[in-house]
Amino acid sequence: MKNSVLINNKIKNFNKIIEVSGDKSISIRWVLFSSISDGISKAKNLLNSEDVVAALGAIKKLGIKYQLNNNICKIYGKGIDGYKYKKDLIINAKNSGTLGRLILGLIINTTNPIKLIGDKSLSKRDFKRIADPLSKFGAKFKLNKDKNLPLKIFGNPKLKSINYIEKKGSAQCKSSVIFAGMRAEGDTIIKANKSRNHTELLCKHLKLPLSIIKKNNYDVIKIKKVKNIKPLNYNIPSDISSSAFFIALTVLASNSKLVIKNVNVNPSRIGIVTILKKMGVKILFKNQRIYKGERIADIKVKSPRLIKPINCPTKLNSGAIDEFLIIFIIAAKANGISYFKNLSELNKKESPRLNWGKFILGQMGVKTIVTKNSIKIYGNPDLKIKKKIIIKNYLKDHRVFMTSAIAALSFGGEWLIHDKDSIKTSFPNFLKIINKIKK
Ligand code: S3P
Repeated sequence: MKNSVLINNKIKNFNKIIEVSGDKSISIRWVLFSSISDGISKAKNLLNSEDVVAALGAIKKLGIKYQLNNNICKIYGKGIDGYKYKKDLIINAKNSGTLGRLILGLIINTTNPIKLIGDKSLSKRDFKRIADPLSKFGAKFKLNKDKNLPLKIFGNPKLKSINYIEKKGSAQCKSSVIFAGMRAEGDTIIKANKSRNHTELLCKHLKLPLSIIKKNNYDVIKIKKVKNIKPLNYNIPSDISSSAFFIALTVLASNSKLVIKNVNVNPSRIGIVTILKKMGVKILFKNQRIYKGERIADIKVKSPRLIKPINCPTKLNSGAIDEFLIIFIIAAKANGISYFKNLSELNKKESPRLNWGKFILGQMGVKTIVTKNSIKIYGNPDLKIKKKIIIKNYLKDHRVFMTSAIAALSFGGEWLIHDKDSIKTSFPNFLKIINKIKK
């Protein structure tokens, strides 16, 4: 089959240095901030993946020019009020929840209604979570089946600031409301459960009128109306969520070592590292430095002799939210039962990932007990797979593909994984890097 891969060989031990592609969250945010800045912004190491190209396509529809050459990109911003577009505009966010949700905050003042569409996976996802707070600013929304795409936004040029309590720990909701708050009169105040904070760090770097009071379990963010945004030159660090697959490959291998260079290790993103340390894995951050508010490091990891099971503290969930599928695969090799809970958000991602975790582990012969928001995984340090496994019809969720590939390389068996193109969403070089590690 053309668009599938067959993996029927376990990876041999390795000792390598690799670099993975640019961070997806920061790449999309760079595109969006640059599109409303005054002048030319330049990024190096922009993630050249379908989600980011969709973001560039969206700002182009809003009248903003860009040039992209491999992973160097220039955006010609025309200021915070610089979007110019025809009536009946349609923006296609393709597979990207981040783009779909964040851009609504930016176009909330549109006087012409704009339609937002996405692919099959995005069209199943919840947009009510963002239409609700954005409506409070004074915009109106028409959603398919009350909560999905396609949707139409009827913006309002006279927005009033809001108070918003964000309870899901969703950086997408928080960020979209920050963008909307930048266009509203008065102070928008957001009480947000902890989630990745790239939007806030970019606002601070750009000296926008945003302040944060950090509490133990939540942040209180205040944003005022913004008049000007400086152009934003950015050297985008590598993505910890892409690195996670190779960290896992090393953890599941024997006698192997890996260094991943220049990774964004923002404390709000390193849940997987904290979880793996609790599972007995040695992971070090080398050459740590701060770049435009973000923490960057080289990650050094080594295969452990034994993986310990974990009763995962729920406060680590938000920092590992995109990594749970691959963490479940690691738990399959632990020396006991691991338990992950309060994970209802996981079934609301590009595919229902808690269910896919259960399916993949079931195929691997691993016992699980799964509820709507939790999973118990009965690990086995001697797990070996001998059967044939087929992974298909998973809504082309990039992380289901990559998780399955790592499981195949780590535990053996014969895996036929469909829809290889799904990796283009976030990590087009994924298979190339595997080949580099194999050599
Ligand atoms: C993202 C936030 C997370 C994450 C997604 C990227 C972002 O989603 O799962 O892959 O860039 O803001 P939620 O904000 O919905 O939790």
